[in-house]
Amino acid sequence: MSRASRSAVLVAATLLHTAAVLYSFPATMTLERAFPTNHGVQLSQLRARDKIRHGRALQSTGGGGGVIDFPVGGTFNPFLVGLYFTTVNLGSPPREFYVQIDTGSDVLWVGCSRCNGCPRSSGLKIQLNSFDPGSSSTSSLIHCSDQICGFGLESADSVCSGQTSNSNYNNNSQCLYSLEYGDGSATSGYYVSDLLYFDTIAGDSANSNSSASIVFGCSTSATGDLTKSDRAVDGIFGFGQDKMSVISQLSSQGVAPKVFSHCLRGDDSGGGILVLGEIVEPNIVYTPLVPSQPHYNLNLLNITVNGQLLPVDSGEFTTSSTKGTIVDSGTTLAYLAQKAYDPFVNAITSAASQDVTPVTVQGNQCYVVTSSITNNMFPQVSFNFAGGASMVLGPQDYLIQEGTSNGDGVWCIGFQKNDGQDTTILGDLVLKDKIVVYDLAGQRIGWADYDCSMSVNVSANSSTGIESVNMGPRNISSSFRKEPPKLMIPISIVTLVVYISILKI
Ligand SMILES: *[C@@H]1O[C@H](CO)[C@@H](O)[C@H](O)[C@H]1NC(C)=O
Ligand SMILES: *[C@@H]1O[C@H](CO)[C@@H](O)[C@H](O)[C@H]1NC(C)=O
Ligand SMILES: *[C@@H]1O[C@H](CO)[C@@H](O)[C@H](O)[C@H]1NC(C)=O
Ligand SMILES: *[C@@H]1O[C@H](CO)[C@@H](O)[C@H](O)[C@H]1NC(C)=O
Ligand SMILES: *[C@@H]1O[C@H](CO)[C@@H](O)[C@H](O)[C@H]1NC(C)=O
Ligand SMILES: *[C@@H]1O[C@H](CO)[C@@H](O)[C@H](O)[C@H]1NC(C)=O
Repeated sequence: MSRASRSAVLVAATLLHTAAVLYSFPATMTLERAFPTNHGVQLSQLRARDKIRHGRALQSTGGGGGVIDFPVGGTFNPFLVGLYFTTVNLGSPPREFYVQIDTGSDVLWVGCSRCNGCPRSSGLKIQLNSFDPGSSSTSSLIHCSDQICGFGLESADSVCSGQTSNSNYNNNSQCLYSLEYGDGSATSGYYVSDLLYFDTIAGDSANSNSSASIVFGCSTSATGDLTKSDRAVDGIFGFGQDKMSVISQLSSQGVAPKVFSHCLRGDDSGGGILVLGEIVEPNIVYTPLVPSQPHYNLNLLNITVNGQLLPVDSGEFTTSSTKGTIVDSGTTLAYLAQKAYDPFVNAITSAASQDVTPVTVQGNQCYVVTSSITNNMFPQVSFNFAGGASMVLGPQDYLIQEGTSNGDGVWCIGFQKNDGQDTTILGDLVLKDKIVVYDLAGQRIGWADYDCSMSVNVSANSSTGIESVNMGPRNISSSFRKEPPKLMIPISIVTLVVYISILKI
């Protein structure tokens, strides 16, 4: 079949499909937290919070805490699951909850026993649960006078009734939260304190069943995609570095190190490794975190395609209140700042081999590939960061198979144009099949290509020095369709990054 006629068939075959894909993406990214809707967070408050945060970072280097291991389920593939999740055991007696792994937000929350809109069943064939503070003997409510609620107020992670400013609110009222995510979904509820159980696999408390008291959200309301049952989990585990995050709470109690790592498997079985601890591997390269940012912001300097610099002004990537590059495991695919998008796609298309047929479907750049995709067919893309650290992406890291046409694979650019936004979000499409280390103590993020079905070495500080432990993936089995279907309405793509709105001063 000639190129032209094959393209025509393809367009007809994928029209419905592609339209569904496009509509399922957020039309515009709502880069704001839901509350406070109109006053936002003052820049000065953010700075104050970051001073506290960095002060603590300095104090706690060399802090103890064993390696804590979490199981992983799910896959990035939006036609299968589109998210990675883990389990947490909460309360007394402990109950198990499935929660999405989200490094783009800070709060851990699970559905409450009385919740408006929380799904009751999941298409992932996992047993959903709800948290009932009344039936846990160790739970207690958080009040606005509690210190942790105050930390949450500074970062807009908490809400207090009668609140007109950060210090003027009813101290006797319950500490609430209200979060809105980039895909337009939202959740709200109240905070509780209760025990979190975990497996410590190295360090002073190795192989013991440990627990620690943490503060997390009990969701009484869910809206948007969070109400859908097709890929429902019980909640979201925010791995941000705000004081409200579990990683901050555990490290300040000396229970966990101030570093965590993941290795998410990109194949259709999914799963992988999630560990509070530092995965060590000789090929890991590190780049510093941009200081004083509410997210894991990196300093992207330029992008090359087969070694050729993309014609994009380097200022396009510089971090500011409206720009920057974020690492976010809660985003299924990836987003590219709008001015970099067309040069990126054009460079890939012109460097693609003669064996692939480029087709444009409703503005989306796709390629028809007769066999499986190989590194010889498509260029190598390199995201080059400060400190000389490069993230090198092969076609598996920037293309996604959206279907088949007469037995040929149809692969489309998986990076989405961040319309009207200059933010680049590195989601699961690029984070999978890599070790990713979030070193909060060292304020840096590192990565290395890795087969995440293999075991890794994790280091932990203990009273007897630095220990290393070898650990393999602990998979959560869930059920999802194994083969990308030929033509289907895909489930939507999640973007779980919570943005803080900053008032222009
Ligand atoms: C272990 O402690 C050293 C300082 O004693 C620190 O530099 C390092 O980041 C710590 N590593 C972990 C994994 O906590
Ligand atoms: C609530 O407590 C804070 C901190 O202790 C205090 O600054 C504030 O004045 C109190 N607010 C009210 C309304 O009592
Ligand atoms: C550890 O705790 C989990 C969750 O509470 C429980 O299911 C498991 O049986 C415990 N294991 C041991 C060895 O006590
Ligand atoms: C883990 O550590 C062992 C012992 O030091 C070493 O032989 C092995 O190569 C390491 N594995 C990785 C993946 O770094
Ligand atoms: C691209 O970024 C890298 C940093 O990783 C830097 O070494 C290189 O000089 C940059 N290239 C250009 C042309 O700016
Ligand atoms: C998880 O899956 C990988 C790949 O299938 C496998 O090698 C590993 O043994 C599994 N781990 C467990 C604990 O089942």
